[in-house]
Amino acid sequence: MSETPSTDAPTNAKQRVALVTGAAGGLGREFAIALARRGHLVAGLDLADQSGTAELVGESFHPVRADVTDPDEVQAAVEEAAARFGGLHILVNNAGVYPPLEFEETTLEDWRRIMRVNLDGPFLVTRAALPHMKAAGWGRVVNIVSAVVFLGPPDLVAYTTSKAGLVGFTRALSSAVGGHGITVNAISPGLTRTETAARTTGADGGFERVRDLQVIRAVEEPGDLVSTLLYVCDEGSGFLTGQTINIDGGSAKH
Ligand SMILES: NC(=O)c1ccc[n+]([C@@H]2O[C@H](COP(=O)([O-])OP(=O)(O)OC[C@H]3O[C@@H](n4cnc5c(N)ncnc54)[C@H](O)[C@@H]3O)[C@@H](O)[C@H]2O)c1
Repeated sequence: MSETPSTDAPTNAKQRVALVTGAAGGLGREFAIALARRGHLVAGLDLADQSGTAELVGESFHPVRADVTDPDEVQAAVEEAAARFGGLHILVNNAGVYPPLEFEETTLEDWRRIMRVNLDGPFLVTRAALPHMKAAGWGRVVNIVSAVVFLGPPDLVAYTTSKAGLVGFTRALSSAVGGHGITVNAISPGLTRTETAARTTGADGGFERVRDLQVIRAVEEPGDLVSTLLYVCDEGSGFLTGQTINIDGGSAKH
């Protein structure tokens, strides 16, 4: 995990306002820190307490509380973030759940819960954020999917389906909003060392098993995703849209 960010940004970078969902910990916290270090103002949206992230990022961070599956909470949280920083330009749809489940033991409620968080969530947050990006004539939507969409592991059928849906969302939405100077891309991490991954897919030697299937023989860390996030959000990346960039140490050759 990164240390406290410095406040200096590259001199050619414009200061933008970013909203990162699921910023209380894990990848979302890493992304919030990275965007702030790049010089952006960052709002974090989460159900959980974000004081740990706020402490690490400092004054350029504003936490808003919402369940991404609740349209009213999402709308209010997005408006609060935009009002706090005077606009909204970058959205990282990162909040997600990935419980391992045997397919035949998966209940309809399990299935719907995974779809609600991983698909309804990005839909609702993006829909609320777009008017602000359109008003600015510039935007970056970044959807965090997963290398499982290429690998299809047996215990993550519902999760894989939800993230494959988010790849489709990325492609079609990029066509719908490109005329407004807004790009939409997806980043697909492999198994990455976060607390949640350590409790679930990475438990019982899972990190090591996945590492041994990679070309790059190291456990993926949240920091391994940062350069790609910053590249996708860069002022100079306006011609990159509708793409899914896979960062999994070479397991899936996408
Ligand atoms: N860690 C990995 O191995 C890995 C690999 C590929 C993709 N991903 C994806 O990256 C994202 C982050 O994963 P992580 O490992 O950091 O997980 P995490 O559990 O550490 O973080 C997810 C965050 O989302 C928040 N969240 C969950 N449901 C929410 C809801 N309904 N409303 C608002 N916030 C909610 C949680 O409170 C949490 O802070 C997820 O979308 C996950 O599917 C993770």
